[in-house]
Amino acid sequence: MAECFQTETENKKRFTIPLKQIPRFSVNDSQANALINSREPVIITDTHLVSSACNWDLDYLSRHIGDGLFTVYRSKSHKFKYYSDKKSLAIKEFTPPTSQEEMPFQEFVNLIKSHPKSSSERIYLQQALNNSVGPKIVEQFVNFNWSYVTGLQRSNNWGPLTSNLLLVGMPGNVTPVHYDEQENMFAQIRGSKRLVLFNPDQFENLYPYPVHHPHDRQSQVDLDNPDLNRFPNVTRLCGYEGVVGPGEVIYIPMYWWHQVESMTDSEENISVNFWYMAGNNEKIEYPLSAQQKVSMTRNIEKMILQALNDADEVAPFMRMMVLGRYT
Ligand code: OGA
Ligand code: ZN
Repeated sequence: MAECFQTETENKKRFTIPLKQIPRFSVNDSQANALINSREPVIITDTHLVSSACNWDLDYLSRHIGDGLFTVYRSKSHKFKYYSDKKSLAIKEFTPPTSQEEMPFQEFVNLIKSHPKSSSERIYLQQALNNSVGPKIVEQFVNFNWSYVTGLQRSNNWGPLTSNLLLVGMPGNVTPVHYDEQENMFAQIRGSKRLVLFNPDQFENLYPYPVHHPHDRQSQVDLDNPDLNRFPNVTRLCGYEGVVGPGEVIYIPMYWWHQVESMTDSEENISVNFWYMAGNNEKIEYPLSAQQKVSMTRNIEKMILQALNDADEVAPFMRMMVLGRYT
């Protein structure tokens, strides 16, 4: 039976988003690679992608990760909605939904351990692994199953690996629905995460912010409490759902929308992702794929902003161009 994403509207009238299960296959099953090849999400077991790191927990990392600085986000709610620092400078009256600071890993652990259960404030560490990590972590990193991911990179014509983001969070933390412009092999190390995914063809149902907005690539819709007057198409949404546990990997294809929730099965939730740039193997075939339309939309929005050189001028310009002429 299909899972559902329960939402609650302003007037407490509930509606549910139909969700299918994300398929789960062993790496030894050819169906796993077939889905990746066709740019569809899949949960893959037995990859041993990050088996070398299966002993990572707060204490182990705090002893071995070194004294480099890590970006830690603080949120007054369970949601950690990403925003671009650079783009926030161009928008008047933008209030960042989270604050961020740089701190040594040990300080983050102290914050987590002294965190009062009653507090609604939460923290989430998100930092690309870099060469400041200690020798034990370097060895475990070197022993990731690189041949698996580089094999996928080659057979799917992905671009170079850009980074491995380390995510360490508290149970209940939520990364709200957004898409990334990279291919993502997302590996779970400790605790489980529930992911809700939407195909790029759901663009019109998720109302992404304008490209120049600090919340670019995020949905304007709060899926916990959608404003149906502003975003009526959310009632048409349909998506996918799956839970990744320790040792499992999920492929999140580029431009696929995803919301990520840390489950309560562990005091600490640890993941490492593998982000790959898009390959330049795109053949233009008509009709265009939803991915190509998202990419074109982004480019056109960027061109308009560049030509006008003022974020506030973009909406009136686009209205002038379309309303009454293309409507
Ligand atoms: C990602 C992502 C969020 C999370 O890896 O692209 O959005 O909370 N992760 O794990
Ligand atoms: Zn993401």
